Amino acid sequence: MHPMLNIAIRAARSAGNIIVRSLQHVEHLEITTKGRNDFVSDVDRLAEQEIINTIKKAYPEHAVLAEESGQNGESDTVWVIDPLDGTTNFLHGFPHYCVSIAVVFKGKVEHSVIYDPLRDELFTATRGSGAKLNDRRLRVTKRKELKEGLLATGFPFKYPEHLTPYLATFNAIFPQVADIRRGGSAALDLAYVAAGRVDGYWEIGLQKWDLAAGMLLIEEAGGITSDFVGGNNHYESGNIVAGNIAIQQQMLDSISPHLTDELKR
Ligand code: IPD
Ligand code: CA
Ligand code: CA
Repeated sequence: MHPMLNIAIRAARSAGNIIVRSLQHVEHLEITTKGRNDFVSDVDRLAEQEIINTIKKAYPEHAVLAEESGQNGESDTVWVIDPLDGTTNFLHGFPHYCVSIAVVFKGKVEHSVIYDPLRDELFTATRGSGAKLNDRRLRVTKRKELKEGLLATGFPFKYPEHLTPYLATFNAIFPQVADIRRGGSAALDLAYVAAGRVDGYWEIGLQKWDLAAGMLLIEEAGGITSDFVGGNNHYESGNIVAGNIAIQQQMLDSISPHLTDELKR
């Protein structure tokens, strides 16, 4: 295993421990509002600090881009961190959230960890070496027909201005698929595409820390991620379609015509 992946795993597991330990007193947590429907608790901050400390001990010269503390340092290697993806779930006691950590070298994700501390599921990938869930190799689904597909998505609950275009995409695709899930953690949605638990996923308005780790997991599991015109701007824009290659193309065909140009890339 690559030493950087090893550090990412160590960091994700200790953040996961912080999250799970805090469950006993979740109703007494201090919660701050960052924006509309966008909350942060001490648990997000503590978990993030733990991750950053673990990384900085091993790689003091690397930069960090983390959701709660922003960009720290300048380097070709940036650790992109979401300490708790699925905060709304966490705060409501809905058991579905994770820690997401990616190592990005010159703009390309090289190592990924997504850790679900409740199920003790560790999703990992290193570029060129495949993706794993715990010790098992991951592959995306083989399903070819959108009508048989189970998709995941995210609602634009932080961005009311995206509701109308989002609902247009939902209306277009819903009648064409087996069903759609809204889990509430973008990183787990992506991990589930890689693990073959859903055939595809789309969302608009994400951040780099929601996406980075999951993008490599999917690629290494034989799937594809793109923006809504099949291009590569999704990491920058946060507008993403992911899936196995056949389903992802059908999703693009179905969704793209319903999005404004601004949200397509
Ligand atoms: C959110 C979750 C959610 C997605 C939002 C994200 P957070 O991240 O991933 O599923 O729909 O766009 O912001 O705030 O829980 O880390
Ligand atoms: Ca997130
Ligand atoms: Ca978060």
